[in-house]
Amino acid sequence: MKFVLASNNQGKLLEMREILSEIGVEVISQREAGISVEPEENGTTFEENSIIKARASCEASGLPAIADDSGLVVCALGGEPGVYSARYGGDGLSDTDRYTLLLKNMEGKTDRSAKFVSCISCVFPNGDVITAEGECPGEILHAPKGDGGFGYDPVFFVKSLGKSMGEMSHEEKNSVSHRGNAIRAFYPKLRDYLKKL
Ligand code: IMP
Repeated sequence: MKFVLASNNQGKLLEMREILSEIGVEVISQREAGISVEPEENGTTFEENSIIKARASCEASGLPAIADDSGLVVCALGGEPGVYSARYGGDGLSDTDRYTLLLKNMEGKTDRSAKFVSCISCVFPNGDVITAEGECPGEILHAPKGDGGFGYDPVFFVKSLGKSMGEMSHEEKNSVSHRGNAIRAFYPKLRDYLKKL
């Protein structure tokens, strides 16, 4: 069965394709499916937003669609930027601008703990929904390290690997990341669903 990956974020597309192919799931991009949808992400949770995105792609393509909604939750900032991670600081900012703003807002904070969260949902043409969540705990650095990955990767330190996400290889990041963990939780649910068809 073919699935549409409901994301226009190149960094995420690359990662999700890589991890999903490991579990034998064939995915095509929205462009390959001949659609271009960007629904308003007006949910208040990662789960709500991932379902909004998957549903829009499914309705436009007629194919089952998989979407991820993710973000960075910082304890000392009361959970910000959270579901607003992609829009933190407003429109027109680069990834570097956004993590620089985050570092500024973290000045003087002793609690640097944070987590990345990812919720993955699949919406089927018959309306069925499968959803799974994954997290990756870490700490906000005082200055960026490494230039790999995307988004907040250079300022997010993962203790188990002793590196920032910006310093990790793709394989390293997939092995510990929120998205990797969400996909690993999602896969058995998808497999069980497909078995019942
Ligand atoms: P979404 O496309 O609405 O899910 O936005 C997620 C946003 O959270 C991204 O634009 C990034 O700013 C941030 N984010 C999510 N996952 C990651 C990651 O793996 N590394 C760095 N930043 C991430």
